[in-house]
Amino acid sequence: MSRSLRPYLEYQADRVEAVLAAHRTPGRVTGGTVGPRLIRFFLNPAPNIRFASIKRLADDLALAMQVPTLNVDRGKEGVILEFSNPTPRPVTLLNLLPEAMPMPLATAMLGLTDDGAPLLARLSAPEVAHILVAGTTGSGKSALLRTIAASLALTHAPSLLQMLCIDPKGRAFPAFNGIPHLTRKPIVDVPEAVEALHSVVRVMESRDRRGETPVTNHDAIALHNDGAVGTSVPRIVIFIDELADLVMQGEAPVADTLTRLVQRGRQAGVHVIAATQHPSSAILSSVMRANFPLRLVGRVVSADDARVASGRAGTNAHLLNGRGDFLAVSGGENPIRFQVAYIDEKDLKQQMAMLGNTVAPYSAQLPVLAYRSAT
Ligand SMILES: Nc1ncnc2c1ncn2[C@@H]1O[C@H](COP(=O)(O)OP(=O)(O)OP(=O)(O)O)[C@@H](O)[C@H]1O
Ligand SMILES: [Mg+2]
Repeated sequence: MSRSLRPYLEYQADRVEAVLAAHRTPGRVTGGTVGPRLIRFFLNPAPNIRFASIKRLADDLALAMQVPTLNVDRGKEGVILEFSNPTPRPVTLLNLLPEAMPMPLATAMLGLTDDGAPLLARLSAPEVAHILVAGTTGSGKSALLRTIAASLALTHAPSLLQMLCIDPKGRAFPAFNGIPHLTRKPIVDVPEAVEALHSVVRVMESRDRRGETPVTNHDAIALHNDGAVGTSVPRIVIFIDELADLVMQGEAPVADTLTRLVQRGRQAGVHVIAATQHPSSAILSSVMRANFPLRLVGRVVSADDARVASGRAGTNAHLLNGRGDFLAVSGGENPIRFQVAYIDEKDLKQQMAMLGNTVAPYSAQLPVLAYRSAT
């Protein structure tokens, strides 16, 4: 929490308790969370107070606190009062990453949840494995792909993780050109992308045959360095912006190739992270969609689009704000709302240029460097 917010929070907690006391529904604010957009107070009502009587006071509380709206909810912490943060915090990758260091292996930074906690995605987990990013234009899909790619590059040596960037519009990944994690320049040409995907399928099949798997934790890295584990291979993360363009321009085999990668890639350490405006069945087959366990959904234009993008009803993704306001939707879990950690063009170029200078390429056989500070 920023220090300057503390008097504001104490003032608001006093207002809440005063309003409740005045309406003979006493309760105490016992704690709370400060998220990038929302502040939550945990309220402990006196034992005889009904939840409904607090809920009825939402407007009076909002008036006394001088906030536009106040939601009253129930949660495991008791009664939750939720209102907007008067000083919304810009969430940036370079501020957030050091807070989460050391990052676990094969894990990417996504952003900050409404509870104010960093949200990470572990690629090696079956619940993540491959990620489908969806949202309308301006929702922040390309920015989210860059955040994931940058956080992986900043926290993994190229001997642990390699990346392939496919970007038919040529706008998402130019800053990554030249970093040692990239085995080829970001690909804009569709036939070249198709050929590159085929080559990853061949790598995946050869890894399957030889029983090669990527390292999954620190202990394994130590063993790896001692030469005890000889068959560890780097993870390969394939980023695809404008997946629909690739599938439509690349003819049927592209969809088949991608489907194979998402069906069988995880064991071999191959992950696909793809963004599209339209994840509808007209463009992506249901088999392919079913094999992206994690959906990251930004703002969409209608409730119907929200259902298609999230793969389920009721997420309300059409009510998101855009510009990095996202939901993480996975399995039967409740969606997690988060603000994507942003990295602007200038910082991204600077950070990637430093990687190019300081990390030797995979072929140089350096000792495995698991983690690097983001600063
Ligand atoms: N996490 C973020 N924080 C702050 N601003 C953001 C964030 N993500 C995106 N933006 C802003 O929104 C603009 C659009 O983002 P982006 O290009 O990533 O959207 P998109 O979903 O890829 O759109 P399109 O479908 O048109 O490619 C960016 O130029 C940036 O100004
Ligand atoms: Mg984009």
